Amino acid sequence: MKAMDLFQKRMETYHDEFRWLYMELYENDSMFAELCDTMYRFYLERSDALKQMDLDREKDPNWYKRNDMLGMMFYIDNFAENMKGVETKLDYIEQCNVNYIHLMPFLETPKDRSDGGYAVSDFRKVQPKLGSMEDLERLTDACHKKGICVCMDFVMNHTSEDHAWAKKAREKDGEYMSRYFFFENSYLPSLYEHTVPQVFPTTAPGNFTYLSDIDHFVMTTFYPYQWDLNYKNPRVFNEMMYHFLYLANRGIDIVRLDAVPYIWKEINTSCRNLPQVHTIVRLMRIIGEIVCPSVLLLGEVVMEPEKVTPYFGTVEKPECHMLYNVTTMATTWHTVATRDARLLKRQLDVVNSLPKEYVFLNYLRCHDDIGWGLDYAFLKENGMEERPHKQYLNDYFQGYAGASVSRGELYNADPVTGDARFCGTTASMCGMEKAGSEKDDAAMERAVRLDLMLHAYMFLQSGIPVLYSGDEIGALNDYSYKEYPEKAADSRYLHRGAMRWDLAEKRKDITSVEGKLFQGLCLLENIRKTEKAFMSDADTWTIETWEPAVLCMGRYYDGEKIIGLFNFSEQEKTAWIRETDGSYSDLISGDAVDPVDVLVPAYGFYYLKKK
Ligand code: GLC
Repeated sequence: MKAMDLFQKRMETYHDEFRWLYMELYENDSMFAELCDTMYRFYLERSDALKQMDLDREKDPNWYKRNDMLGMMFYIDNFAENMKGVETKLDYIEQCNVNYIHLMPFLETPKDRSDGGYAVSDFRKVQPKLGSMEDLERLTDACHKKGICVCMDFVMNHTSEDHAWAKKAREKDGEYMSRYFFFENSYLPSLYEHTVPQVFPTTAPGNFTYLSDIDHFVMTTFYPYQWDLNYKNPRVFNEMMYHFLYLANRGIDIVRLDAVPYIWKEINTSCRNLPQVHTIVRLMRIIGEIVCPSVLLLGEVVMEPEKVTPYFGTVEKPECHMLYNVTTMATTWHTVATRDARLLKRQLDVVNSLPKEYVFLNYLRCHDDIGWGLDYAFLKENGMEERPHKQYLNDYFQGYAGASVSRGELYNADPVTGDARFCGTTASMCGMEKAGSEKDDAAMERAVRLDLMLHAYMFLQSGIPVLYSGDEIGALNDYSYKEYPEKAADSRYLHRGAMRWDLAEKRKDITSVEGKLFQGLCLLENIRKTEKAFMSDADTWTIETWEPAVLCMGRYYDGEKIIGLFNFSEQEKTAWIRETDGSYSDLISGDAVDPVDVLVPAYGFYYLKKK
C-alpha cells in the first residue's frame, strides 16, 4: 500500500472520534488541520524499518503480553556513562533476560535544577554528557536488532524554567505566558491551594512560585523550576504532540507519560485525574495509532487503584497500553514489614478481577520513593490505623521497629500531615546492607532468600515485571548523594547509585551474594518465559492458606496450571491448602510436592506445576 493510502486508511478509522475529541477541548479547526498535516509529515519522516515494525505489531497487537517480556530501568550515566556505553552493555542486558529497557530521562535539563531529568529544557536535544539524537537512534536500532524495546519518559506536565517557552514567558511575552499558568497576584493561587494537594510538601511546598523579577506567580506543582504547561492552549497540545512524534521516530517503543494525572487544571478541584486528562490521553493514543502504531503508551499514575484503571480507557476506546501496579508494590512492602499477607491477597484479588486485556508493570522498586497508599479501610478492620501504621512502616524500614533488618531513609516527611514516604534499594530493604556491615553470614543468607522470594512472587503476577537496575546483583543504598548540594535534599538519590560493574563481575560466582541473586533471578526468568501459565492473559487467582504469612496464587493457561506459595516470614510456616486435582512438582527443585498442607521454608517459595 502506498504511504498516503496507509496513513489515510488509519486516519479514516479514527477521524470522527479524533476530530470530535479535539473540538471538545479546543473548538479550533485550523489548529486541528495543522495537527493532521504535521502528523502526516511525521509519518513520512518515519524510517522504513520503524514503519515495518508498525505493520508487524499491527498484525500481532498482543506482542507485548508475552511471558518473555522483562524490563529493566536505569539512568544512562549510572549504568554506562552515556548512550554509546549502553550499546556496549547490551550483552549484559541480554544475560539478564531483559528485552525492554527504560532509559531514565536523558533530554536536556539544567544541571542543578533537573529533578533527575524531569525538568526538560529541550525536548529535541539529548544531554550532551549522554550523547546526541544520532546516538539515541543508533542505540534504539541496535536494541531492535536484538529484540529489545526502548522506553523513555515523556515529561508532558511541565517544562523546565530554562525551556525556550518559559524564557519568553519570563520576558512577559503574552503568547508564551499563555502556555503556562501565570497570575498577577496571589488571589487565584491561594484559591487553588485550598483544593490542590502537595506533591513535595517538604522539598518544594506549595503549588505556585512567585517570580519577583516579573512580579507574577506561576504554577509549579512539582519543583519551583518545573512550570506546569497549560493544556487549555491548543498550541501547547499540538507542540507537545509533535515532540511525542519526533521522539517516537527516533525509535522509541514505549512512551512513559510522566505525571499524566496532573496535566489538566481547574480551580476548585484537586487538579488530578480530571476528565480532560482522559480526553488528552485518548487523543494521544489515536495520534500514535495513526502515525506510529507500534509505539505503546505507559501511564505513570501513582494513585489508588480506582484512579489508575480508568487510564486503560475502555475496550472500544483504549487510552494507555500499560500502567504501573503501584498499590500492589506498596502492599508488598507492607507485607514484608508485617509478615501478614492478608491485605496483599485482597489487593491481588482486586487486580485479578480486572479485564485480562489490562497490562500492568510489576515492580519492587523504581527510581521514586514508596508512598504508603494502602487500603486503610481494610487494615482498620484488622486493628491498624492509618497514621500509626504509616509511622510503623517508616520506622520498620529505617530499621527502628519490629524485627527489622532494613535500611533506608524517609522522603518528604510532611510536618503538617505527619506523612512520609520511603527510599531505599530492594537489597537494603531486605537486609543485605545490615548483614554485610555486620559480617553476619546467616543474616545475609536470609536477606538473599527474602529478595529472591519477592522477585519470584512478583514474576508470578500478570503483566510485565520490571527490574530496577542493580537489583539483579543486590545494589545497596548509596549515601554519596549527600555530598552533592543539588541532590542532598532529595533522598530518592539514595537508591539511584551508580552501577557497580566490579560487583557485577561476581555474578558468575554462585558462592557470592551477587551470584546467588543473579543466577537465582535467571532461573526464575527462564521458568517464566518457558511456562505458558505465565502469559499475561492467563487466569489468575489467590488461594486462602489460613496462615497469614503465606501468600498463595494460582495461574492457568491453555491446560497448564501453576500454584505459587510465598512465605513472608523468617520462620517456616504451613500453608493449609488442599489442591487435590492431581500431582504437582516444584519447578525450582524438580521435586514432587503434594499441594496439601505445605510446609514452606522461612522466606521460601514454591512454583508448583500440575503434571
Ligand atoms: C514523576 C517521576 C518523578 C518526578 C515527577 C515530576 O512522578 O517519576 O521522579 O519527580 O514525575 O516530573
